[in-house]
Amino acid sequence: MKVLIADKFEKAGIEGLTALGCEVINQPGIGTDKLGPALAQVRPDVLVVRSTKVPASVLGQSDGLKVIIRAGAGVDNIDVGAASAKGVKVCNCPGMNAVAVAELAMGLLLCCDRRIPEQTAVLRAGAWNKKEFSKTGSGGARGLKGMTLGVVGVGAIGQELIRRAVAFGMHVVAWSRSITPQHADALGCEFGGVDTPALMALAARADAISVHLPLGDTTRKLFGKAFFDAMKPGAYFINTSRGGIVDEAALRDAMKAKGLRAGLDVFEGQPAEAEAPWACETALLPGAICTHHCGASTDQAQNAVADETVRIVKVLKESGRVINCVNG
Ligand code: MLT
Repeated sequence: MKVLIADKFEKAGIEGLTALGCEVINQPGIGTDKLGPALAQVRPDVLVVRSTKVPASVLGQSDGLKVIIRAGAGVDNIDVGAASAKGVKVCNCPGMNAVAVAELAMGLLLCCDRRIPEQTAVLRAGAWNKKEFSKTGSGGARGLKGMTLGVVGVGAIGQELIRRAVAFGMHVVAWSRSITPQHADALGCEFGGVDTPALMALAARADAISVHLPLGDTTRKLFGKAFFDAMKPGAYFINTSRGGIVDEAALRDAMKAKGLRAGLDVFEGQPAEAEAPWACETALLPGAICTHHCGASTDQAQNAVADETVRIVKVLKESGRVINCVNG
């Protein structure tokens, strides 16, 4: 079985695939433009991607390809419809990086409250300013304990965040299209409802919101002007899921108009490459804490994702079964 890996992938995963007897062709950073020709030339059975986009044009050159594995949870970089039309199965590795993403969400929350990156920047510039960073009241740190945190999306990542936020003494209110009061109770948080009016009501009462939804037709730009208008002045908005679920211009307007602070790991139009020149307008605003879509990037998470990828290939090789399949 031939496996083409088109993004950076843990060494343990490459060794695991090789130990299964697979021929592994490792081409990290090949990029979308060269992926089609590589598929046509190598004719792999399995393609493994992380950030690289796999549009219909690439799939058109993939004769013989059986399975695409997304080494992560979201599959929005793959044209799943075009894959289905070609009979290519798409799999993911759900839950494997949930702890890592929840940890980053907590980090962003803490940075919004304590302005840790800004404090570091001032020290690096050669100044001591305890006066600014120890002020209380408007613009100061509030302390997470006792804050109301709205967790939007209660899959594996949302649940890990709820555990951590509860441990910090936050009052967590969970919203998702499928959550029940019993489920919320079991997670130690308040049931925040399942519909759009409940989401807007949560925006209006939360001191902080953290979003954990996949990108799809129903979530694209779900967080726009109406949502940010509803949020409290000075509240925190955390997004570690996908940039496309936020109308970032509307978020910037709200940051300027009402002092929202935003902790963002993902952005509209962020580069698909691992390294690229890119001007991030939102990162320039006061109150913005921004990272490089690295929520899943811990050793622990990437090893778990690599193990799961090897498991998917092992089952495929041994039984022909496609596990973790998102397109039937
Ligand atoms: C995911 O979808 O699991 C993450 O975005 C993964 C990643 O950054 O690779």
